[in-house]
Amino acid sequence: DPKAAAAQLGPGPGAGACPSPQQVPAGSKAPFFLGTATASYQVEGAFKEGGRGESIWDVFSHTPGKTFEGQDGDVAVDFYHRYKDDIALMQTLGLRNFRFSLSWMRILPNGTGTVNQEGVAFYNKLIDTLKAACIEPHITLYHWDFPQALYERYGSWIDPRVVVDFAAYAETAFELFGDRVKNWFTLNEPESYCLLGYGSGVHAPGRCTDRSRCSAGEAGEDLKCIYYSALAHASAVKVFRQLVPDGVIAMTNAIGMSVPYNASSQEDVAAAQRNQAFNGGFVLDPLYTGDWGAERKQVHGQQLPAFTPEQKALLLENQQDFIALQHYTSNYAYYNKDKPPLLVDTTTKSIDGVQLVQADSPWLYVFPSAMRDLLNWLTQRYNQSILITENGVSAPGEYDKPRAEVLCDQFRVSYFQQYISNATVAVQQDGVQLLGYFAWSLLDNFEWADGYSKRFGTIYIDYNSTGLDRYYKGSSMWLSNHFGLTGIRS
Ligand code: NOJ
Repeated sequence: DPKAAAAQLGPGPGAGACPSPQQVPAGSKAPFFLGTATASYQVEGAFKEGGRGESIWDVFSHTPGKTFEGQDGDVAVDFYHRYKDDIALMQTLGLRNFRFSLSWMRILPNGTGTVNQEGVAFYNKLIDTLKAACIEPHITLYHWDFPQALYERYGSWIDPRVVVDFAAYAETAFELFGDRVKNWFTLNEPESYCLLGYGSGVHAPGRCTDRSRCSAGEAGEDLKCIYYSALAHASAVKVFRQLVPDGVIAMTNAIGMSVPYNASSQEDVAAAQRNQAFNGGFVLDPLYTGDWGAERKQVHGQQLPAFTPEQKALLLENQQDFIALQHYTSNYAYYNKDKPPLLVDTTTKSIDGVQLVQADSPWLYVFPSAMRDLLNWLTQRYNQSILITENGVSAPGEYDKPRAEVLCDQFRVSYFQQYISNATVAVQQDGVQLLGYFAWSLLDNFEWADGYSKRFGTIYIDYNSTGLDRYYKGSSMWLSNHFGLTGIRS
């Protein structure tokens, strides 16, 4: 019984006695540290407790037809009440790093203004319990739950006011927690929340370019969202340097790899490179050069909001400490002579006819060698060290299968094994500077528009039990063993 075993572990030796958090444990087969990740709206629940304000995801998930079977994050996996048990589970597994996000509306219920002390108290308890268990906290400031009050005022990431409000919220968080927390992330995957929330409208706030499908939204809002996100990020980094000079900070970016369909076709190789720069450089190019990449300019032209000289300086003077990569899936890209040269076609079947294995999520294909290619591509293009802040998989059929079968998650074990070994090769043979690796996710959780139907956890949640009981899946054991962690006290 994992719960009973965890309870016996006790609180741990206390922060002062912990080994260096970034140290790779003895016996590890990977030359980088391991952690697991979650996000506030996906796990916390307690949506009306502790003085929390409303978020765009509360409104979106309560709107009929927006999520799988109308599911929402009102309770989620109740991390708000169960965080101590979950920390004990991490401790048992020997996990030394935990990435989680702050709910902006727990700290500032209206997005700006008065600080909600109950929200602060919750995160203080969470941080202190982690530290006492020798688990290093890594905080994401924004993981998609935008304050509804600000959304109603100016529509969120499409308005310049968000830059000021996000920086003020970040400042509050650095002041409150920066004494104990040194690892920070500003925004989680702008390319996801901008394209899905303002382009296709399948995520909150559900704005999209097709007015017949969405209640609001205009063409180009997704690009504006990226633009203001880049500026908000740089503004937060600026504050961070003043308030937490001994900490590190980055934005997290969702990036896949476009592998040439026919490696001996120069046209396919060039098409794959263009597609890679177009997608992989979407946000990182502005962060590192102060401007959009050439491929974006060619495709979007005047639709791209221009960075002024002051904005360019802001971006260049406030650069992040490393690339925070979230990587799940990849594809093959090929040249299509009937299309304009920048519109590249992609496929999930190789030239030999081998179909990439599909995960439970329709967008996720297992393509482990692309992890090595991607780490090399990022290193060549930006010459930065890299932290993998998310990598993981939903395994086919896990929603409906009996619990015993889901716990033997060989599909996920194999995914982790192959992706981590490709990352290890990139470090050992190619010279990529890889800092660490966070598996997504510690727990099964609310997978946005897919509700609870997709399970990414390394720990299973029994949604039918009143206690939302937790069970280790094989994958959590595998991660623990692979990284040579038999317990934090060794
Ligand atoms: C990236 C997001 O950051 C996370 O919230 C999501 O659950 C995973 N991808 C899986 O889709």
